[in-house]
Amino acid sequence: MILQNDLLLRTARGELTERVPVWMMRQAGRVLPQYRAVRERAGSFITLAKTPELAAEVTIQPVDAFDVDAAIIFSDILVVPEAMGLPYEMIESRGPVFPETVRNKADLSRLRVADAESDLGYVLEAIKLTKKELNGRVPLIGFAGAPFTIFCYMTEGKGSKTFSVAKKLLYTDPDFAHALLQQITDSTISYLQAQIRAGVDLVQIFDSWAGILSPEQYQTFSLPYIKQICDLISDVPVTVFAKGAFFARHAIGQLSCDVVGLDWNMDPHESRQLIPDRVLQGNLDPCVLYADFTQIRAEVKQMFNAFGHQHYIANLGHGIYPDTDPDKARCFVDAVKEM
Ligand code: CP3
Repeated sequence: MILQNDLLLRTARGELTERVPVWMMRQAGRVLPQYRAVRERAGSFITLAKTPELAAEVTIQPVDAFDVDAAIIFSDILVVPEAMGLPYEMIESRGPVFPETVRNKADLSRLRVADAESDLGYVLEAIKLTKKELNGRVPLIGFAGAPFTIFCYMTEGKGSKTFSVAKKLLYTDPDFAHALLQQITDSTISYLQAQIRAGVDLVQIFDSWAGILSPEQYQTFSLPYIKQICDLISDVPVTVFAKGAFFARHAIGQLSCDVVGLDWNMDPHESRQLIPDRVLQGNLDPCVLYADFTQIRAEVKQMFNAFGHQHYIANLGHGIYPDTDPDKARCFVDAVKEM
């Protein structure tokens, strides 16, 4: 299938392009009334994610609504623990919860390496369907959580500001921590490779909780596992987004990845120096989308002045907040295209 708009793909591969591509993390979601309608019909987040027809529908919604340069498959990073044998629940206004957690080798022995084709077939089906329905309009991004971020949820059992239960294990039982991280890594590699076979054009690794680790811990407990993933993905461009890991930018830029995602605490000039030969993606504070239209355009302009117009993918510095006015999101995308 030939892509009509392959701007993101060409940019991610390091080519010079006529315009900066743009998409938004979490673009498929509650920010769109048409998403909330489908979510209502599905009954629950998990049913929506597990119904390929509906997942494909909400994946394409932001392409129609915002005219972004990519779709990202509608799913969640927590499908991987579920496929390893640890189911999750999504609780309204509280977020994800694991009724059972994994905190020692005995717990771990009850889990398995996920077999993507059998355990995550519904995501692969949704990818195939989305590719068909997109009909080449824009590339489709696949994704997975970084092993450390998945480790956080599997051990802690729920979201947390500190993830102190998860971090405690790095000190009290590092052997167990490494064993679980390795099992997540093996599952993630199988999953991303299956996503690529199903048709995704790029993949992004979300290390959403990278920022809670010290630089030394990041080198020990996160980076080596992301490296294994990058080393084994060769057919499509790979983006690594490690939220809060400003201290690891140089090391991430040395991985065999193509794009490095930045959050809004990471200065673009400094990031270019630390990561001289990779494409950068980011990094507008999602809160800017609460400002008025004039200010949003001014902030986008400032971001462009800092990043330049090449080897750059415009995005937010983290997921868009659900109470954002969709017109403001559209304004962000339009502003990028007008630069
Ligand atoms: O448009 C897209 O970006 C694709 C969809 C997507 C979702 N989750 C859908 C979702 C993606 C890429 C994710 C990744 C994800 N999930 C991450 C990594 C990115 C990040 O934000 O740091 C993380 C940490 C999760 C775990 C997760 N899932 C949390 C913490 C929550 C609850 C927070 C919230 O917004 O309610 C979710 C739920 C979730 N995942 C929703 C969506 C649309 C909201 C659930 C709903 O519709 O009720």
